[in-house]
Amino acid sequence: MSELLDKTLALFSELPPAERFHVRARAFSAPLEAVARHVPTGGTVADVGCGHGLLSAMLALEDPERTVHGVDPDPRKVMWAAKGPGRLPNVHAEVGTVESLAEQRAGQFDAAVVCDVLYLLPRERWPEFLRTARRLLRPGGRFLLKEAEGNGSWKHYKCLAQEWVMVKLLGRTKAGGGLVLEPRGTVEALLREAGFTVRETVALDAGYTTPHILYVAEAT
Ligand SMILES: C[S@@+](CC[C@H](N)C(=O)[O-])C[C@H]1O[C@@H](n2cnc3c(N)ncnc32)[C@H](O)[C@@H]1O
Repeated sequence: MSELLDKTLALFSELPPAERFHVRARAFSAPLEAVARHVPTGGTVADVGCGHGLLSAMLALEDPERTVHGVDPDPRKVMWAAKGPGRLPNVHAEVGTVESLAEQRAGQFDAAVVCDVLYLLPRERWPEFLRTARRLLRPGGRFLLKEAEGNGSWKHYKCLAQEWVMVKLLGRTKAGGGLVLEPRGTVEALLREAGFTVRETVALDAGYTTPHILYVAEAT
């Protein structure tokens, strides 16, 4: 385990066992450190759909000069994020959505991260969600979209089955009616339509059973 992950998980040590288990399982099943490495240093970062705040914590610990503002519509998760990573001086977590954040703080972020959130929304909401995320950023701001790639592979179908269990069976993740994986070309086109320049698309699935993919874009 890396030193960063070790320090990140230590922030959750006071949480009840079920929450600690959820956070650890998440930490070892998604390439969050690789996502964090693509966030520019310093500045103010929006973590949209922050959940328990695992990625927010990593971003804040990795660079104390950075301020991370996490929002999630699930009040339970935000409560754990506030009790864990929220203890750091450069993390703030609150109940909210991309829309509420854009209403309050349009153009105020140097970077925004949306990590494994879009696939939970109905497909018809994706274009508007991405346009709203674009409004969070100052011109030239970095946008990181982490998704699972819809590529028809066994990882694709395993991912859908796993998420079905998390959302429908266990109720651990709140979904807005979706469970959709799209091919990378489709997502890149949506990003361009929303006002982004796509700088890089990075496959992050090596060593994982989920087809993790990261889109690195800039607000144009
Ligand atoms: C799989 S979790 C990912 C959490 C976190 N981003 C991470 O990478 O660990 C998906 C999160 O998206 C949140 N979510 C669902 N609908 C959302 C929406 N409309 N806006 C923002 N977040 C949403 C859920 O509450 C959940 O916490």
